[in-house]
Amino acid sequence: MCIHNKDQCYLKPKRYHRKTMEILPLHLGVKHLLDSGLHKVPGIYIRSKEERPNVVHREESFPVLDLGAALNSSEARAALVPQIREACMKWGFFQVINHGVPHSLVDEMQSVAREFHALPNEEKMRYFSTDTESRMRYGTSFNVAQDKVFSWRDYLRHSCLPLAEMQDLWPEKPASYRKVTADYSTRVRNLAKFLLELISESLDLPKDYIDKAFNGCSQIMALNFYPACPEPDLVLGIGPHSDPGSITLLLQDHVEGLQVMHGNEWYSVKPIPYSFVVNLGDQIQILSNDKYKSAEHRAVVNSSEDRMSIPISMGPNWESLVHPASKLVEGSPVFKPMFYKDYIMALQAGGLNRQWLLDTLRT
Ligand code: OGA
Ligand code: NI
Repeated sequence: MCIHNKDQCYLKPKRYHRKTMEILPLHLGVKHLLDSGLHKVPGIYIRSKEERPNVVHREESFPVLDLGAALNSSEARAALVPQIREACMKWGFFQVINHGVPHSLVDEMQSVAREFHALPNEEKMRYFSTDTESRMRYGTSFNVAQDKVFSWRDYLRHSCLPLAEMQDLWPEKPASYRKVTADYSTRVRNLAKFLLELISESLDLPKDYIDKAFNGCSQIMALNFYPACPEPDLVLGIGPHSDPGSITLLLQDHVEGLQVMHGNEWYSVKPIPYSFVVNLGDQIQILSNDKYKSAEHRAVVNSSEDRMSIPISMGPNWESLVHPASKLVEGSPVFKPMFYKDYIMALQAGGLNRQWLLDTLRT
């Protein structure tokens, strides 16, 4: 684990206060800046006019799937497959309710995550690193060592597998972090497996096709914290991107902020208490031979309330060679094969504002 290295300089030109020209310790995070009395957004956070969130986003009924009956009855489960197919085809995004993860555990996860972000900065900075290969790190924006424009976000990000090994690397504070996160990530992993089976079937593939093709799974969790922002119209909490893995299950609090791109417009995803927002990642787009798309999304912030989200990104096992399922290929496959590990490394090297990596794999 890397503690802030004094020889590494994040304080590049332009990382100063817009009015006073004072150099700002931006790597310490957005919350820290605000706690130090900042009232204006530093220049490095300001997005270009085209990227700013001041676009009209329409309301539309976003798919909400009730899993309650399907978890217990095979008939109800079968009835869910066409609903999943439609949501995957149309949006690449849906919300799930009655998913079996206990509400009490969701509450506990949200409280330990909030408690973590409320810790003194010195405590959180023990885990600070800009090494994108690190299996656990605290950071801000995406990667302060390479971002050209910063995102209004502080985060902790860590792997959840292998659980026994990872648990010892997770934060020591709050005291219940390791236990709650172990339970929560296990329950969400089981839900993800259930959804990936349904997604397999929705592609007319055997139920266990994705699990076998991806040699099991990897699992990364993040605690995203988006402090209320004095100038929310100039910044983004997280810039437009698609998630690289198989599916992401995101838990958001009551504050709206997540937006999904659909037909060239941004749609806001209204929070539903105790639901998960599920989105398809790039590896499902590859495996499905472009039948399903990994939807582009972003997060905006607001001036009145902090927002927190906890995404769990499932992915293939790192060593898996991912390619289109042969049953879905007519003629030549749309994508070239690539090891998942190499995909992630290429992505990390390019940052979030990369050219669409997926497109480089098109044949
Ligand atoms: C992410 C992400 C959106 C949000 O962390 O990949 O898309 O609402 N987050 O926090
Ligand atoms: Ni995302």
